[in-house]
Formats: sequence, C-alpha cells, structure tokens
Amino acid sequence: MTTRRAFLGQATATLALSGLARPAFAASHDPQALVAREAVVQLAPEGYPATSIWGYDGTLPGTLIRVRQGERIRRRLVNELPQPSSVHWHGLRIENAMDGVAGLTQDPVPPGESFDYDFVAPDAGTFWYHSHYNSVEQVARGLYGALIVDEAEPVDVDHDEILMLDDWLLDTETAQLDPDFAAPHSLSHAGRRGNFVATNGAALTELPVKPNERIRLRLINAANARIFPLTLSGLDGWVMAYDGMPLDTPEKLEGEFLLGPGQRVDLFVDVTAAAGESAHLVRLNDEEGFSQVAFPVAGDGVSRTRRDAPAALPPNPGMDVPGVEGAPVTDLLMEGGAMGGLQEAVYNGETLGFRALVDANQFWAFNGVVGMTDTPLMNVARGETARVKMRNETAFPHAMHLHGMHFREVLENGDLGPLRDTLLVFRGETREIAFVGGAPGKWLFHCHMLGHTASGMATWVQVT
Ligand code: C2O
Ligand code: CU
Repeated sequence: MTTRRAFLGQATATLALSGLARPAFAASHDPQALVAREAVVQLAPEGYPATSIWGYDGTLPGTLIRVRQGERIRRRLVNELPQPSSVHWHGLRIENAMDGVAGLTQDPVPPGESFDYDFVAPDAGTFWYHSHYNSVEQVARGLYGALIVDEAEPVDVDHDEILMLDDWLLDTETAQLDPDFAAPHSLSHAGRRGNFVATNGAALTELPVKPNERIRLRLINAANARIFPLTLSGLDGWVMAYDGMPLDTPEKLEGEFLLGPGQRVDLFVDVTAAAGESAHLVRLNDEEGFSQVAFPVAGDGVSRTRRDAPAALPPNPGMDVPGVEGAPVTDLLMEGGAMGGLQEAVYNGETLGFRALVDANQFWAFNGVVGMTDTPLMNVARGETARVKMRNETAFPHAMHLHGMHFREVLENGDLGPLRDTLLVFRGETREIAFVGGAPGKWLFHCHMLGHTASGMATWVQVT
C-alpha cells in the first residue's frame, strides 16, 4: 500500500466533535442554538494556511448531535451566514414540516433570522444533518455534522467512532475553497470533486487501538459528489447497517466497498494487526491505496482475545416493505449531462433545447423535466407500498436519495435489498426501489451529487 506523506506521519488528534453541552438546569424553553456561521479552521495539513469555511457552531464537522432512540431533538438554527439557509436531517423519519428542504417544506431562513426544529428520533443509527439551501455551495463550505441516535441498550464494542469523509477543492497556495461552486463543467459532469480528501475536517485522523479490539466505525460520506471506494487493512470487518438501518444478518466485508454521497455504513471492525503495526481504513484510487484513517495498534499482553462474528444490531420499528409484488410502479428516466445526448427538456414550463439549457446552467432531467415541478413524481398513500423504476441514461453515476422514508431495492430475482435512503445508480443501469408511504407531506427525491441537484436532478413524492 502506498501512502501519501502529507496524510501520514503527523500525530493528529481525533477531532473536535464536541458533545452536547446541556446546561444542568434549563434556563428557558428555548431550544439549543445551532449557529450557522463563518469560521476559520486548519483543514489542510500543517504548514498550509487555515481555511475559511461555513460551519455549524463554527466547527468542522458541525456540533455532534447525539441522542438515545426515541428522544427529542430540538435545535434553533441561527443563521449568521450571508445567505439564507435551512437544515435537513438526512435519513430521519420525522414530520415533513421539520425536514428542512427550503422551498418545499419550509421557507429559507434569511440571514440574521432563526428557525426552530423539534422532532423525535424514532430510529437508532448513523445519520447526519446538513444545509438544504444552495447545498451545492453550503455543504461544500462545511455546513454539516453527524447525528447519532444510540440504541436503547448499549452495543458491545470497545470504541464507537464517527468518520465523516469529504473532499475539498482548495487552492493549493492559499488553502481557500474554490469559490466557483456552480462551475458548468462540474455540474454537467461528475460534480464538484475535491483535490484534498479529509476525515472529520482534518488531513489525517489517527485513532489508537489495541490488538483484537472491536470498533464500531460510522462512516458518513459528506462529499458533494465523490464516491469513496474503500477497503480495510489489518481489520476484520462486518457491515452492520446501511444508511442507519441494521442488516438482519451482518455481512462479512471482503475486498472493496463503495460509499456514495449521502450514504452511511456502520461497520464493526476487529483489530487483526499486531501491536506496533497500524491498521487502516484504506481509500482506493486507481489501484492505489491511501490511508483514510490510521489505527496504530499498541498494548500487547493485556489485550482481549478475538471475538465471534457480531450479532445483528436491533432492528428499527416498522420497517417492513410488504406487498411489493402488487405495488404500482412509477418510472423515473434520468437523462442529461455531458455526453448524455439529451436533445431537449422542459425547464420552468418551457421546452428548451440542450444549448439553451446549457446557457441556463441546467443539465439534467427526470422524465423530461429539469428541476422541481408543481405536481409530484407520484402520490403514495400513507402505509401503502410503491415502487420507482429508475433508468440512468446519463453517462454518470447518481446517488438517488429519498427524503423521509427508507426503501429497499427490488432485485432482479425479486428479492429485496437492504433498507437504504440513498442508492448509487450507475450509467446504463435500471434499478428499482420499493418503499412504504410514511408521514404525510412533500418528500424530496433527488441526486445527492449536489451539483446535479442544483442543475436539474430533483423531484418529489407526495404522501397523502
Ligand atoms: Cu442529504 Cu436532500 O439531502
Ligand atoms: Cu447525480
């Protein structure tokens, strides 16, 4: 495995993920503030200048929000940014009015104003929150954080680590973010890709471990567009959950796995590397491996012995997807982008040729329409099962994210895949999902490659 010097050899502290600072006595009934503001952080490796970012409470990632399953989350978004904003709680099954999609479920919160979010976290798992206004810019500037909902009963692991993966497009001299967030080339191709990859807002994350320890790794892909191909070294791993939802049977990890934008995976990893060695979460790039996170192993003799394969995490309630066979199917044709051959599409109610769309910096269409429509893609009654058949006729992969509900992929043999809220659909693929209508309201359904959302790849589902 090759390593990049800038990413290794520095003892970097694990991150500034601050816990909940709750006053011992509630001074008032006001929710705790979550301040969206500018900040300066050391993002690039030491020796580079600090970077100005936008962060929740001025940190990168934003303040960790962590509750136990069934607890209430109350947060007052205080917008100290020079732009409107809103907060989306990615993967949480909450009321529609709390979903935070500016322009669909709430008005954007203007600079200087605030908005109170208040909901119960029904599911245990690994979630995250991020800006949902001009997210192609605001998420790229750092407006995101982890949201962890702990299981009712403690889970038997030695460490529980949150790893938010992101890539940053930085000027190599000044270490400042490239301000061209809506560059036509990145919107029309694979999206904004960074030249600097980080975990939890730091160049290098090192987590010391002991031989044979079992660690829960909560990986969250917060990147605008990058799909992370990952593998393990010096670790034996099991997939315990995707997108916050436990698998019925943990899956032994063999070889490489992908983490698309917006996706999460919970792994249990057992340290197999010996004391004095380092285990790694490895990022693959053109057959080369880079250390995304290093786990230096120390402390022999006293360590525990290896454990058996882990038992499944407790399932979240009411996640069945019944009656898939007879459920109505809605088609979703994904078109456009560079080399996509899109001739024309409807934009703002007008049919435009591809040239005119390019001039409007809009490149992608769902069912022949660019961007949001007045009418939903589909109506689903609460409690009813519906299917969406997605056909990707573009030249790029897309990370399709449904708000408010988890879905299961309907596999070719009729089996159902694991519960997910974000699915990678590669070029030329047809993939079908099934889900049950959840809380009533307007639920966004879009590509989580945020430049694609900004240039056409968004629609919505109405639950009645
Ligand atoms: Cu993670 Cu529509 O968002
Ligand atoms: Cu996309």
